[in-house]
Amino acid sequence: MTTLREEIDRRRTFAIISHPDAGKTTLTEKLLWFGGAIQVAGEVRARKASRHATSDWMELEKQRGISVTSSVMQFPYRDCMINLLDTPGHEDFSEDTYRTLTAVDSAVMVIDSVKGVEERTIKLLDVCRLRDTPILTFINKLDREGRSPVDLLDEIEDVLKIQCAPITWPIGMGKGFRGVYHLVEDTIAFFDPTQPSEKGATSEVIQGLDNPRLDELLGSQADELRLDVELVRGASHSFDRDAYLSGKQCPVFFGSAVNNFGVRSLLDAVVDMSPTPLARATETRQVDPHEEKFSGFVFKIQANMDPKHRDRIAFLRVCSGRFERGMKVKQVAGGKTLAINNAITFMARDRSTTDEAYAGDIIGIPNHGTIRLGETFTEGENLRFTGIPSFAPEFFQRAILRNPLKMKQLQKGLQQLAEEGATQLFRPSVSNELILGAVGTLQFDVVAYRLKDEYDVDAVFESCPINTARWIKCSDEDFRKLSDLYPNNVGTDGAGDRVYLASSRVNLQLAQERFPNVQFSETREVH
Ligand code: G4P
Repeated sequence: MTTLREEIDRRRTFAIISHPDAGKTTLTEKLLWFGGAIQVAGEVRARKASRHATSDWMELEKQRGISVTSSVMQFPYRDCMINLLDTPGHEDFSEDTYRTLTAVDSAVMVIDSVKGVEERTIKLLDVCRLRDTPILTFINKLDREGRSPVDLLDEIEDVLKIQCAPITWPIGMGKGFRGVYHLVEDTIAFFDPTQPSEKGATSEVIQGLDNPRLDELLGSQADELRLDVELVRGASHSFDRDAYLSGKQCPVFFGSAVNNFGVRSLLDAVVDMSPTPLARATETRQVDPHEEKFSGFVFKIQANMDPKHRDRIAFLRVCSGRFERGMKVKQVAGGKTLAINNAITFMARDRSTTDEAYAGDIIGIPNHGTIRLGETFTEGENLRFTGIPSFAPEFFQRAILRNPLKMKQLQKGLQQLAEEGATQLFRPSVSNELILGAVGTLQFDVVAYRLKDEYDVDAVFESCPINTARWIKCSDEDFRKLSDLYPNNVGTDGAGDRVYLASSRVNLQLAQERFPNVQFSETREVH
């Protein structure tokens, strides 16, 4: 029998962040393969391909069954239980991606060695920075002619403002890629892509830079490597666990995901370096994961397979204690107690029990719209976890009804979809307009489709002259003055909170300068 503490301390909960095409899906697949969670290479990529082959949202809808279960992938590795949370990328990009990052304890950042730091990575890293999430970096595609490793590390340090501590160092690249040197273990893993990709392309591992076998295998490249390593050791940061855990330094690994090379070192690092489930802040106190009593918060709501029944799955991150099927828990916001009998847990295949979860794990709770984003569940205590943000949207559209008689349904539908986090809703003070905000444009297609399908409302969206939004906090007096000067720019969001809808960056800047006592905020806490 393991104790509660042992079970919790063997959890590692992380997400992979990357710009599209850097290799997140490929890496996920290799990680799952190491964990025995998939038998055949290609399963994850095939799923991605089928998702991408269809532009029709209805098809995506049909596949939601799959996406619910692939949102959290749990598998055992060594003596740990790994929870890998999927952050949808690409055109699926939405606020879910951001919020998923509030439910992890660390992240793996994948960088394409040819392209370096890309735009989406910068954005995602900004989100990680809100909570100082520890980051491990995997520089991928070393089998291609990419940029020099020194160049890549410099770029990460400059652009992402995070120190790099190389743990492995590549030997050559592209056609001349021969493997990696492990700076901590003093081992060299040789790369041979003619090996079957599923087993990985590591042909041999040898110990020690002064090993004569190194000269046998690398010839004159061996001395180059020795020199490189000396330089790297002298010029770069060495691994500092505290700096990593506080999000200031990222250990860096080099490899090739598609060739399953360097992936095991990365997974070992997740086990050896990454944090166990972390304490979480509530409005009143810190919650330690090892507390006996169960607690958790909802970071994502996903409409389920049958939208007609308004079935939803609430994804809850367990923050403390142990969850057990049938357990009675308190939904803090409404004060109700409910027995959770039908929770989905995401146990790996080879475990027989599927009805318990520990701090660090994720459970899915089916419901009919009664559970909201950001809600806290406990075994009785009145806690509210903080730090589940709404982000200022970057795209805005105005909802136009084809049939004006359906206004009530439209309002209800948009309100509910906003509560679920599918979109954000804004109402300018001076008009009856319903403005939708999103951080990714696919969100609009999803909302239009779901309005039709679930609420029988035919709505179209058209562009509107809003550039960005800010949540505002100020005295009523200041708000009145702001409204007098900018009547067209003030309004409320779906939760009734005050917002400033800026027509341009300049407009926002002017308003901020004129009203120094008004706080304009880019994020809002969801409760
Ligand atoms: P994503 O989830 O981050 O969007 O990336 P994904 O894994 O789908 O990988 C994007 C492309 O990069 C894929 O090629 C994939 O095979 C390739 N790739 C991933 N890792 C490596 C690597 O280590 N080396 C090289 N050379 N390529 C890699 P694709 O052409 O889009 O798909 P496919 O034809 O390979 O299926």
